[in-house]
Amino acid sequence: VVHGGAGAWQQERIGVGVEGVREAAKVGFEVLKRNGSALDAVEAAVMQMEDNEVFNAGLGSVLTIDKRIEMEASIMDGKNINAGAVGLLRDIKNPIHLARLIMENTDHVFIVGYGAEKLADLFGLERRNPLTKSRVQAWREEKEKLPKTDRLSKLHKLIASYPRIFESETVGAVALDKSSNVAAATSTGGFTLKFPGRIGDSPLIGAGTYADNECGACSATGIGEVAIKLVLAKTTCESMRNGNPAQKAVEKSIRLANLKMNGLSMGLIAVDMSGRIGAAHNSPNLCWAYMTPD
Ligand code: GLY
Repeated sequence: VVHGGAGAWQQERIGVGVEGVREAAKVGFEVLKRNGSALDAVEAAVMQMEDNEVFNAGLGSVLTIDKRIEMEASIMDGKNINAGAVGLLRDIKNPIHLARLIMENTDHVFIVGYGAEKLADLFGLERRNPLTKSRVQAWREEKEKLPKTDRLSKLHKLIASYPRIFESETVGAVALDKSSNVAAATSTGGFTLKFPGRIGDSPLIGAGTYADNECGACSATGIGEVAIKLVLAKTTCESMRNGNPAQKAVEKSIRLANLKMNGLSMGLIAVDMSGRIGAAHNSPNLCWAYMTPD
């Protein structure tokens, strides 16, 4: 199951968004078909979306208020609950790949900024300028609308006045493989005009990403602060651990977000250990796709 972000997808972008997630689901599924692991599948699916400028992750990441790129991502293997995460990346081509390398080659889980980029050099990772014309234009348009006084406003006020800032198109994937292992991965540029140094849910294990073979896997999208406060990916996995199928688990988590966080935009995808899938959102849209053996 893959997602290309919860939010309000503009009519003219829906076609390319749906096409992008379909492609990513196929890429991930091909890995599983060739007996690849769930971990390989979620990484491949997310990399595919990081390379597609339609989405706000990797190429096409949105800009901070001071016109910087700060990408973040995380990946988790349900087989052994190993996890890797990165943040504050400027130009790494595939943040999710660096997250995986951190998981597999260091004793750490989460490395950001300078240190993460140093590791990327060590691993010989490719770099790329993620800036696209359309993101620069969106940044300019939204910044003009935002008076100085509003720049640190509470999220609710900002969302009411400048909804386009929060049209997050974070990407994510969850998978179950033939050996009954699950994995989850999430990657994002954050949201337009975010404060520099702001970290969202996507690189946080438990908030944006969670996988455990004892329950299932989940990836979140939407306003990161919601998923952080409710530790939403882990909450969803715990719900599956308690016997709820994936669809029921994501719906319960979205209800929780509505109850506790006033319905701030949130979307979730999940897979449980029986291969049942789930997707739910309280945002106007969730761009997502799935593929099963059938
Ligand atoms: N969910 C993406 C973010 O809030 O950064």
